[in-house]
Amino acid sequence: MSSLSKSPAWLAFSSAVHTSPLTADSLRILPAVDLEVDLSTQRYSAAFEQASAALLNQQGFEAARKGLFAGEAINWTEKRAAWHTALRSEHPPAGVASAIKAEQERLANFVDLVNAQNLYRNVVHLGIGGSDWGPRLAVEALAGVSSRRTIRFASNVDAHAITGALDGLDPLDTLVIISSKSFTTTESLANAARAIEWFTANGVSEPLEHFVAVTANPAAARAFGIRDDRIFKFWDWVGGRYSLWSSIGLPIALGLGLNALNDMRRGAAEMDEHFLNAPIARNAPVQMALSAVANCSVLGYASFALCPYDARLRQLVPWLQQLEMESLGKATQIDGSTLDVPSSPAVWGMPGTDSQHTFFQWLHQDGKGAPVDFVLCAKPDHQHTRHHRLLIANCLAQRAALREGKSFEQALAAVSQTEKDPVLAAQLAQHRVHPGGRPSTLIVLPLLDAKQLGSLLALYEHKVFTEGVLWGINPFDQWGVEFGKRLAADIEKSLDAEDSESAVSAFDPSTAHWIRRLATSADDSHAYERRREERIARGQPPEA
Ligand code: F6P
Repeated sequence: MSSLSKSPAWLAFSSAVHTSPLTADSLRILPAVDLEVDLSTQRYSAAFEQASAALLNQQGFEAARKGLFAGEAINWTEKRAAWHTALRSEHPPAGVASAIKAEQERLANFVDLVNAQNLYRNVVHLGIGGSDWGPRLAVEALAGVSSRRTIRFASNVDAHAITGALDGLDPLDTLVIISSKSFTTTESLANAARAIEWFTANGVSEPLEHFVAVTANPAAARAFGIRDDRIFKFWDWVGGRYSLWSSIGLPIALGLGLNALNDMRRGAAEMDEHFLNAPIARNAPVQMALSAVANCSVLGYASFALCPYDARLRQLVPWLQQLEMESLGKATQIDGSTLDVPSSPAVWGMPGTDSQHTFFQWLHQDGKGAPVDFVLCAKPDHQHTRHHRLLIANCLAQRAALREGKSFEQALAAVSQTEKDPVLAAQLAQHRVHPGGRPSTLIVLPLLDAKQLGSLLALYEHKVFTEGVLWGINPFDQWGVEFGKRLAADIEKSLDAEDSESAVSAFDPSTAHWIRRLATSADDSHAYERRREERIARGQPPEA
């Protein structure tokens, strides 16, 4: 698999995309479990369908999908399975069923125990990336459905995050969850250390009695001092950004109830069935992936916007950013060759209608714009009918306006109502033209509850998996994150004033400059001046 762009299936796919209309004259709404995925405003035609089938075939989609559900080592660069589907299956595959069931039971028993004893009104969740976005999204989105406890999340290493999360809490009534697949992540461990200091400072003699860990590295959690019965495991065959379905879901169970976590798993499992069995032309994740590849690799859209028209889904944007961009942000194919088509659009977005007053100007009138995923719930969880009608109206209107656009003639007719000078009117009308023809997908949920949210997240997981297959890249590794982390460890060491000048000057001049300028140590805020004097004493220029 060397050159995708020159492969026969790709050439056919690419030309089919260019010749397919944006709006067919018929609706294209794909039911997926209880969700409806409207792709009517994505390029489509019989030629597109045919070429897509050939491309899926050339890229080995069937075998890859089978391998995903069978637990094959499809995460080939880490020689691991990516078996998040097993975690939510009612009948997990034989090889892992007992381990999964045993761990789910341990977690359920723990939740039942703390509920029965009315322990911990407050939970502080420490985790980042895939160990944070999933639970944070669910707890925030479903808070209106049921909430038993205050769940606060601290992910960033910026101390404002942990300080804010602990602020005002009663330490005796607080549980801290350290969620980290690797249990080596700097931010989560630094925040955990800060939390221990907080407990100690507030007179708690055994802070670690207030901690549980969720990890695929139980040995490290044990070494950190977490009791065995308070370590909830998952496995290295679960990707971090796909780990919500594992014990990483603990804050959901503690905050919203075990049923909420189980309902999310059930909604996702039903989407797994749809992905596995729906015919390709009616398979929502597959069709969403094909449209995304068409938009990015053929039509040249370098990004897409996610606009959930529901304030409760605010965290869906960062959740999807990690899922899409950490999974697909690569250009190396299975055989190590470089992918020669554009891939992996940047994901950005914001809930509607805020997004309308933030970046829809760009979506409507930028020379290129970007495709948009709209997400909408048919039924709200409140009685304010007019508000919901306005939300629906604005969502549908923005989507229609992006598709239809506004021609010069239409703009001129409007402007001429008030501007009688034809030359000026024509000039003004130019500024009001909307190119239109902007692709979008609309995903409608019947309502927002745990099951529907589970289905929605699994829909996107399978869309991303299919994009990975179409581009021939591995959607389950993330080698690109390591280099920056390693440099950060070196720079942190160099920021400590005790370190030798040579270590600092190993960095590029700008980095070295700022290390010198910003070097602080616990008790030596004058490190910069002291170093400057040391350089002068050594006959070196004061500034590096
Ligand atoms: O740096 C990226 C990453 O490794 C993500 O893939 C992961 O979700 C996150 O950091 C947190 O990692 P962990 O769960 O091991 O703490």
